[in-house]
Amino acid sequence: MLNLLVLGDIHSNWPALKTIAKYIGNDRFDGIINTGDFTVYGTFPNETIRWFRKNKKAICILGNTDLRLLRILHGKRLKRPRKEEKRVMYFWTAEQLSPKNQRFLESLPTHREITLNHIRIGIFHGTYDDPDETLYPDAPIHRFQKLAHTTPYQMHIMGHAHTPFYKKVSGVHFVNPGSVGRMYDGDPRTSFAIIRIFSKKVAVEHFRIPYPVRKVTTSLEKNGLPAIYKKMYEIGRKLN
Ligand SMILES: [Fe+2]
Repeated sequence: MLNLLVLGDIHSNWPALKTIAKYIGNDRFDGIINTGDFTVYGTFPNETIRWFRKNKKAICILGNTDLRLLRILHGKRLKRPRKEEKRVMYFWTAEQLSPKNQRFLESLPTHREITLNHIRIGIFHGTYDDPDETLYPDAPIHRFQKLAHTTPYQMHIMGHAHTPFYKKVSGVHFVNPGSVGRMYDGDPRTSFAIIRIFSKKVAVEHFRIPYPVRKVTTSLEKNGLPAIYKKMYEIGRKLN
């Protein structure tokens, strides 16, 4: 049996990531998949990236926030997001990021594939054919069917929706672990998934566990960042 820990949309929330790491214990897993968005909105980009950099089992891709952050670091203009409270978080993160962690992000692709027990797995932040698509579990079934019928992969592991789900459509597995560090659904606990592959059988389990939210909110305050984020972490909703 193969065990995969699936993480995504961490958004610099190191207290949440650390809580998961302690809860699950590293040795149980054959691989750790990160579906992207390491950075921005939380205040711990370096701690977050370092954990993946040091973890030999980690298979990582970049998300849209990471790509925007790299654009800033490469001296390009940032057109989006337009809202000032979001832009502040991007520029603050860019100032904090260590050169080593920047280089690590620069080395990562935007999608990857792995094959386990003859199951071809695609890892995306958005979707197989649209890196910016936010695929929610209640998307029309024909959208899942179209992906299933055009993909070479038997399993899609995705991020971006910040919504945990698992669906099997037309023989293809679709997995989103939810967000480790920035919840949208009113539940402030951290989210992750474990995929177990036994022969060609697949089992997916989602978890929500509490983590010390105050470590994030006090750090936001200490760094003089917009107060709206404190509220977001406390209630587990997107308000910006
Ligand atoms: Fe995200």
